[in-house]
Formats: sequence, C-alpha cells, structure tokens
Amino acid sequence: MLVPKYLTETRFLNQQSLSHEIELGLLSESATISPKFLYDSLGSHLFTAITLLPEYYPTKKEKEILDRYQLEIAEELGTGKGLIDLGAGNCQKAESLFNALKLESYVAIDFSIDYLKEILPQLQNKYPHIEMYGIGMDFSKEFQLPQGIPKMNNNFFYPGSSIGNFTPVEAAHLLTQVHAQIHDQGLLIGVDLMKEDKVLSDAYDDPLKLTAAFNLNILRVINSQIGSNFDVSEFKHTIKINHSLQRVELYLEALTNTTVTWRDQKRTFKRGELIHTENSHKYTIDSIKSLLKSVGFKSFTFWTDPKNFFALLYAC
Ligand code: AVI
Repeated sequence: MLVPKYLTETRFLNQQSLSHEIELGLLSESATISPKFLYDSLGSHLFTAITLLPEYYPTKKEKEILDRYQLEIAEELGTGKGLIDLGAGNCQKAESLFNALKLESYVAIDFSIDYLKEILPQLQNKYPHIEMYGIGMDFSKEFQLPQGIPKMNNNFFYPGSSIGNFTPVEAAHLLTQVHAQIHDQGLLIGVDLMKEDKVLSDAYDDPLKLTAAFNLNILRVINSQIGSNFDVSEFKHTIKINHSLQRVELYLEALTNTTVTWRDQKRTFKRGELIHTENSHKYTIDSIKSLLKSVGFKSFTFWTDPKNFFALLYAC
C-alpha cells in the first residue's frame, strides 16, 4: 500500500522570515497579522468546525457545486491525472472529486504540515491506489512546486475561496506563478460571490462565536512563533464589511490599554485599537475572470449554485 510522502523545506516555511514578518506587522502604525497564522493545527480544526456552521455558507455551496457537477467537471479536467491542491486543509473538497477524476496522484499543500499529517494517512487508507504528497508551504510570497512532485499532467485546485484572503494584487502575484507552472492542464478555483451584508455578517461573526475563537487563536500562534505575551482575554473579534473593496475584514480589538512584549520589543494597544487579521474578498464572475485573464488564463468554464452564492471556475 502507498503511504503519503511529506515535504517541508526551510525555503517553504522559513521560521526566521515568518517571525520577522510578524514583528513588522505588529510594529506598523495600524497593526496587522497575516491570515496564514490563523492555521496552526488548532486553527485548522477551528476552521473545519466553522465550515459546519449553518451560517458559514461558502463550504456548503461549493460542495453543492462539486457534487452536482462532478461529471461535467471531470470532463473539463480530464481523468487519470494529478491534482495539486493549494488550499488543502482537511482535503474534503478535493476528496469529493477523487472518484470522478480517477486520480493518479494528489498533492495537498497547506500552511500547517502538522494538520496534513493528521489528515492524509486516513485519506491514503481510503484511496490506497492514489499517490499522495503533503507539503507544508507558505506560498503567500513565492510559489514553486518542490522537486519530487511530477511536473506534467496536473490540474491545480484552489478551493474554498482561499484566493479571497489575498488582496487582488497579491492574488495576481500568486496566480501568475501558478499559471507559469501549469504545463498542460488548468486551474479549478472556488470564489465567493458578493452578497448582502446580513448573510456575510452572520457567516463571519457567528452566534456560536467559533469565528471569534478562530480569530483570537492567531494571538496564541503569534505567542508561540515570536515568544510574545498576548493575553487572548484582552481582545475581541470584530468584523467590517468594506463595500468599496468588496470584502469582509476581520480584526481583533483591544478591550483595555495593553502592552505586548517579546524579546527586546513591545507594542502598546490602546482600548479600541484594532489588529487587522484577515480580508475575505468577494468576487463577481466578471471580476474573477478578468483577474485570471490578467495573469494569462484564456478560456473559462464556470459553475454556480442556484442562489449564486459561490462559483467554481476552470481556467486554462
Ligand atoms: C479560508 N478562507 C477562505 C475563509 C474565508 O471565508 O475567508 C477563512 C475564514 N475566516 C473567517 N471565517 C472563515
């Protein structure tokens, strides 16, 4: 039986430059923390729990599309090839296509290699004939497939509207690199579509407070990464819907005046001051097509759910 192969290289997850990035964000006038730090193993489990909330529609809408159109999708992507999953997480989105695509290989890429090591062995057991790889990678700055991954005959998969967590400029930077590494196939990408405020605020500020826990956990990740002393109980989760930039913004708001220290550094937060932790951009079919066109993709097929909440596009 095949066993998953794991690949992590310092250049994919360089702890020193990650720490440096965190410090720069904390010390800037409007403090920021990159959303990739939401995903340690606990953060990934919390995100999986969020996807089960009735209010968090993206995962359910995307699953609806994947299930309903799997044969059409397989016809577009072709069968008997490899699938490179850029937003693997718990790998469930990709798994819904495994049978229809009759995959030869599956490459799961995630910021948390620890989480992939929990998930992939079970998946490999279920699909013993598919060659599986797990790669821990921060591709927010640079995306390069590692040595040892077959370069040809791969479709890329970027589900879950994770592209929405990048600004359009950052998204174009990543997609340009992805496009350059697609040799003979295409990219299947999920995007969340713009919708009314109430649906968005219920999804990103849920009454069970799972999103709050997911957002606050980032402070613990930062503490363990740079040795800071953030006290989670001194912050609260808050969101803004930014209509002009077509995105939901996540913040942590200081509940009191508080000073956070690490090594020889410190940052004081005044009561009410915000740390920006995530953007979740919403697209239209036209705006995602024009982003994909701007990085070199030429042809598109897309599927949506009946309410037009979410879209899946295959771009070549
Ligand atoms: C992973 N990503 C697409 C999620 C989103 O909807 O932007 C992350 C998330 N943040 C809060 N809830 C879910």
